[in-house]
Amino acid sequence: MSNLKQGEFVGSLDCGTTSVRFIVFDKHADILAQHQLEFPQYYPNPGWHEHDAEEIQQHADLCILETIKSLESSGWAKESVKVIGITNQRETTVAWSRKTGKQLCKAIVWTDSRTKNIVAHYEAKLRDTGIQVEPGVWKKGKDGIEALREITGLPLSTYFSAIKLRWMIDHYPEVAKAHEADDLLFGTVESWVAYNLLGGVEKGIHIGEVTNASRTLLLNTKTLQWEPSLVEFFGFRESILPKLVSTSQVYGKIAYGPLAGVPIGGLVGDQQAALIGNKCLNQGEAKCTYGTGAFLLFCTGGDIVRSDHGLLSTVAYQAGPDAKPVYALEGSIAVAGSAIKWLRDSMGMIKDAPEVNDLAAKEPTSGGVYFVTAFSGLLAPYWDPGAAGLLIGISQYTNPSHIARATLEANAFQTYAIIESMKLDSGTDLKNLKVDGGMTNGDLAMSILADVGGFSVIRPEMRESTALGSALCAGAAIGLYGWDLSKPATLSEVNTKGNREFTPSISEEDRKKKWEGWQRAVERSRGWEE
Ligand code: G3P
Repeated sequence: MSNLKQGEFVGSLDCGTTSVRFIVFDKHADILAQHQLEFPQYYPNPGWHEHDAEEIQQHADLCILETIKSLESSGWAKESVKVIGITNQRETTVAWSRKTGKQLCKAIVWTDSRTKNIVAHYEAKLRDTGIQVEPGVWKKGKDGIEALREITGLPLSTYFSAIKLRWMIDHYPEVAKAHEADDLLFGTVESWVAYNLLGGVEKGIHIGEVTNASRTLLLNTKTLQWEPSLVEFFGFRESILPKLVSTSQVYGKIAYGPLAGVPIGGLVGDQQAALIGNKCLNQGEAKCTYGTGAFLLFCTGGDIVRSDHGLLSTVAYQAGPDAKPVYALEGSIAVAGSAIKWLRDSMGMIKDAPEVNDLAAKEPTSGGVYFVTAFSGLLAPYWDPGAAGLLIGISQYTNPSHIARATLEANAFQTYAIIESMKLDSGTDLKNLKVDGGMTNGDLAMSILADVGGFSVIRPEMRESTALGSALCAGAAIGLYGWDLSKPATLSEVNTKGNREFTPSISEEDRKKKWEGWQRAVERSRGWEE
């Protein structure tokens, strides 16, 4: 009989773009044990970015194993973990075989921009043939583009999964053959990881969660069903699509490993998870997470707000199979932390990521340098796959500190551009912004954000909001701690003592001048690549 203590905890498996980790929380959102592992990134050609889905799964399994070991060595029994949630990098597209349960090709990552020609093809198809919006009614040209946005909340872009899946079918014979033979299963990362943890090919549980599905270009965001006209538009068989499930419900039990028998109660895209973990559950609340990219989500409650200014309308969460969906407006920035990684790994300007703040602090300004970090085009609000990365304003006087500062400013300018669009779309002025993610640990990065944005930036003490959001979904599914996505008191036990606020410290005139400089730099970067 083990003498380990019994507790009531919730686990969160966070499968991000560059690493996987597993965290065990208690009801105060205090962390009892965790383990994180980076996994390989593949860049086989310019603009390409791939993951090995099997490697993601192996790293996930190992993280669970190591976390449980560390939980036990701190005196808690593994049975204390009552439920787990899974959160994930969104849009990344996995194709696997129904027969073998193995991936058919490497996963195409959300940042990958190889699919520009597919986007152009479907733009032409929308223009010339259009899509069928109801039996016998077709919309084409501008109306077709509008209809696609109306149904999915998204523009046609290399960013979304249907485009990536089409590329796989068109370019990999094994994927095409599997599609033809009805052996293909498509999923985003939560779908793949849940499939494996719930028993893989033996059980064949092929589910996809609605916040993730809202990033595929195939979901009708009003009905939360796959849209048959779009499945046909992109030329897919319906049988390849996962069965849709809500953000918070028991999907089944883990089939193997130290947590065998523990239910999975939450599946949620990582940015929506961070919205939940930041308690932005109601209309008008917003957060921005600075990870590989940066993602600003503004909760619009039960209303789908359609953007006229380059933002996405996305599903924020569905609190259970019968719950009404809650929506958000989203501004997605492809490059945030990855620009700092580039300064570190490719330019050798810093030894580790946090050092960017020290380097930038050596100069009071960027010395007139602007850095448009369009490494794979620009996402919101510009949506320009042809925009090129651009450093402009360089002179003999420029030094690495100016460039480090321009990198932090690029982040802030892109955040501000999104907030301007949100203001126009929602009619609401944002007074403050809650932030989280690795980059927010830097005080200078946060002060620059407040200066450029002209609003106050609130950095919570508890910055593991992505993992916490998915833990909350999972806990709510089994009624743990009385957690409930619709109750504002939920998460009120989370420690807020160390929250810090950064307020703007530059004049309105300086802010305007900098902003105009950024806009000119963006104009020069646009339309560079064919
Ligand atoms: O849309 C992509 C996003 O979900 C990736 O997030 O934190 O892995 O960069 P992250």
